[in-house]
Amino acid sequence: MARILNFGSLNLDQVYRVDAFVQPGETKSSLSLATHCGGKGLNQSVAASRAGAEVWHAGLIGSDGDMLFDKLHENGVNLSLLERASGVSGHAIIQVDNNGQNCILLYGGTNQQLTEAYIDRALAAFGSEGLVLVQNETNLVGSIIEKAHNRGLQVAINAAPMDEKVFTYPLELIDWLIVNEIEGAAIAKCELEVDILPKLGNLYPKMNVLLTLGKRGAVCARGGEQAKIGIYTVKVVDTTAAGDTFLGYFLTEALDDKRLKDALALATAASSICVGVMGAADSVPMRADVLAAIEHGSLGKLGEWGGWR
Ligand code: RIB
Repeated sequence: MARILNFGSLNLDQVYRVDAFVQPGETKSSLSLATHCGGKGLNQSVAASRAGAEVWHAGLIGSDGDMLFDKLHENGVNLSLLERASGVSGHAIIQVDNNGQNCILLYGGTNQQLTEAYIDRALAAFGSEGLVLVQNETNLVGSIIEKAHNRGLQVAINAAPMDEKVFTYPLELIDWLIVNEIEGAAIAKCELEVDILPKLGNLYPKMNVLLTLGKRGAVCARGGEQAKIGIYTVKVVDTTAAGDTFLGYFLTEALDDKRLKDALALATAASSICVGVMGAADSVPMRADVLAAIEHGSLGKLGEWGGWR
């Protein structure tokens, strides 16, 4: 069974529905407001757990974080390492427009208060079997990567949101890089999408890469093997957490040694269901529902991979 320790961000998502995103210098009214549990880390823990992995979530919540704890708890995530810190939890201001697209403003809060001692404690408790997952929404990411690798654990990074800090991390120690085309091109230092995987292969020979391409699907390179997949054309209500759902499902399957093609197919179906529901963690589907949707063909026909741009 896939075993994952996620040093993951946890956010309270303040989700505003708008007809169109607010522009610089503009003041506008939103159509509705709702608070959801989110954070790339929390969403990915929920997704991996719903996919069937054993997930431990390490991270810090603030005085307002009960809802975040409860969400992970009700999803069967091991919370023995989750701690409370002073201050407020991470949060995100999210606008969702009529097309279901979003734009997100982050405040790190307690996600930025991890300490070396906490990381050591969490790694020691988890043991040396499995994979450590990080995103770029907490502090000390480089240190987590190094310490996890030194303990013999596999390491995966979702290098999002992309910023200069990513270049300071020991990426040569990474087993799985999960990026979209913009993040991938920045890390590979190339302009053409078609060059991303070969360049990453040269720079980081042992790195496996999951490259997501939005409406064009995804490509995965593991060892010498490569697989590509398209998307289902479904009604989009809210794309928030679709990438996190994809990641959680894919990683769970990949760690269970499933064929790349099959891991991509399950992850694609899961994220297609996710975009039909408002919110972040709550929009991640259960494994049984994903399998049923595939079996009954309720997502329609899987499209062809959309090619490089
Ligand atoms: O990936 C979606 C997530 O990004 C949201 O839940 C938000 O909190 C930000 O971390």
